[in-house]
Amino acid sequence: MFDRENEIVAGTVNNGEEELELSLRPQKLSQYIGQNKVKEVLNIFIESAKLRNQPLDHVLLSGPPGLGKTTLANIISNEMNVNIRVTSGPAIERPGDLAAILTNLNENDVLFIDEIHRLNKNVEEVLYPALEDFALDIIIGKGPSARSIRLDLPKFTLIGATTKSGMLASPLRDRFGVLCNLDFYDAKDLKEIVVRSAGIINIEIDDKGAEEISRRSRGTPRIANRLLKRVRDYAIVKSDGIIDTVTADLALRMLEIDQMGLDKLDRRILNTIIDFYKGGPVGLDTLAASIGEEKGTIEDVYEPYLLQIGYLNRTPRGRVVTELGYRHVNKIRQNDGQLSFDSGEEL
Ligand SMILES: Nc1ncnc2c1ncn2[C@@H]1O[C@H](COP(=O)(O)OP(=O)(O)O)[C@@H](O)[C@H]1O
Ligand SMILES: [Mg+2]
Repeated sequence: MFDRENEIVAGTVNNGEEELELSLRPQKLSQYIGQNKVKEVLNIFIESAKLRNQPLDHVLLSGPPGLGKTTLANIISNEMNVNIRVTSGPAIERPGDLAAILTNLNENDVLFIDEIHRLNKNVEEVLYPALEDFALDIIIGKGPSARSIRLDLPKFTLIGATTKSGMLASPLRDRFGVLCNLDFYDAKDLKEIVVRSAGIINIEIDDKGAEEISRRSRGTPRIANRLLKRVRDYAIVKSDGIIDTVTADLALRMLEIDQMGLDKLDRRILNTIIDFYKGGPVGLDTLAASIGEEKGTIEDVYEPYLLQIGYLNRTPRGRVVTELGYRHVNKIRQNDGQLSFDSGEEL
């Protein structure tokens, strides 16, 4: 396995970090920075649902890890003044588990299912009538005497979160009234997040210091918060306890986070494709095996940002490093091999 002592880019939250995430998590839509389109849409639907005194339509939140899906689900339940029940696709193993959760909801509650693309088929079947008619179909008895009865459920809002909206079965996707896709944050919004978080964890930071951290946070609030915390530690121990550009840069260098915010594994992905596969195309399975990292981690956590900044391309034949990607790792693309291959095919 790849050396992971720093866990900065990791998609999941590791031990000891939950508390930080909780304390930094905005509680109200007005505190949620950036994603203006999403906020605008949600605000209208929330206000309307409140005025009609009805539950909010089912909401699907999609986007890479760390962009604020869980945060948004909690904010929605706060703004609606209802309870939130939190679970995840892989945690609901059998239809009965879901039935138990559904029958325990209160009127207008939010049910949050994280990683909803990982629900299994049998469980999904139970969800359909629940979403559509707020009903549960259960079979009583066995064999010829078996009959199906329908139980009414409280009206509720399902909020699903997924890093892979493409993997969602279309009947499930069609049952969401509101689809929100979260994008990577721009530098300005990330900087605002860093400044806000610095205030909460009580560390002094100047403008340029906040800029430096946000620029190297891969457009991702979770990473911005992680970096801030580590730069804070560095500033306290090695400097005067104030984060400025120099302290931020030194700390991030120590963590091997480069100017673009890429870490060792990012660079290793680029270098492996270049050195072993002539820049690609290379299939994800092969790449994962060469690097010794899980396929899912590369695909869900690392790739989205490399694609976003144009260092990597996804083609039908696999992943390809772009000119920009080559330049980032100080390598030059050899076009010769590629050209002779292409002309060879034409003959
Ligand atoms: N729009 C935002 N404004 C401020 N902080 C945010 C925002 N989005 C995310 N965060 C911060 O990033 C952390 C990770 O967000 P989270 O909702 O857990 O991401 P996801 O569920 O998409 O993986 C949160 O703890 C929160 O502090
Ligand atoms: Mg989450």
